[in-house]
Amino acid sequence: MMNYRDSLKNFPILKIQETDSTNNYLNELSRNKILKEFTTVTAYFQTAGRGQRGNGWESEPGENLLFSFIVYPEFLDIRKQFILSRIISLSIKKVLDHYVSDISIKWPNDIYRKDLKICGTLIENEFQGSIWKKSIAGIGININQLEFGKTTRNPVSLRQITGERHEINKILSGVMSCFMFYYEELRKGNTEDVITEYHNSLYRKDGFHLYRDANGEFMARTGRILPEGTLILIDENGNNREYAFKEVEYVL
Ligand code: BTN
Repeated sequence: MMNYRDSLKNFPILKIQETDSTNNYLNELSRNKILKEFTTVTAYFQTAGRGQRGNGWESEPGENLLFSFIVYPEFLDIRKQFILSRIISLSIKKVLDHYVSDISIKWPNDIYRKDLKICGTLIENEFQGSIWKKSIAGIGININQLEFGKTTRNPVSLRQITGERHEINKILSGVMSCFMFYYEELRKGNTEDVITEYHNSLYRKDGFHLYRDANGEFMARTGRILPEGTLILIDENGNNREYAFKEVEYVL
């Protein structure tokens, strides 16, 4: 069996002490030179970590896993671009499942432990016409931090759940190994299993729950997620409601 230190040698890693954001750092770097696929940047500390919806990403120095990696998914159909999000989320879930129970994926790509958020992902894509040129996936997993600021919504760390510190590099190695496996599956055209696995891993997969859209709150159950990433919720009247990211909020 390969140990995690060996598997960290399967892709180039740059370990940065401090940067504004690993996504920005990797993006800049990729503009100046050709980087091997899966090149990864980790940071001990981010001075301006970026989250979804223009939010920040909080992390105490050295306590959590903060990283970004680059891929060139030219073989993927941009009309079905949500497939990349699916395999990133599944890779993170797979690794966290080894540590704790009740890990799920909150559409589109947050990772939850019960009703608390343990990980966030910021994927930045670059397309040229219909060609998918590159993606930078930035991932923040709360590992050893014990207290979070008031501005961070419903956070949780692995240590808060298990009561123990965890080896950050081991989790990085696990996520990247899983991701590379899934990515090769996509290259072979094996997408059906990924789609099923993603669906089965969803937060609020079953039953009716409370949501909020531009028209107010409503109860709905999860339907399908379309290839480009649109979420379908089925309300209590049986109507399908379609949402792009940011158009609907989960009321927790
Ligand atoms: C979210 O809002 O849920 C997304 C958070 C993404 C945070 C990670 S930390 C590493 C990478 N660098 C960033 O600036 N953001 C991502």
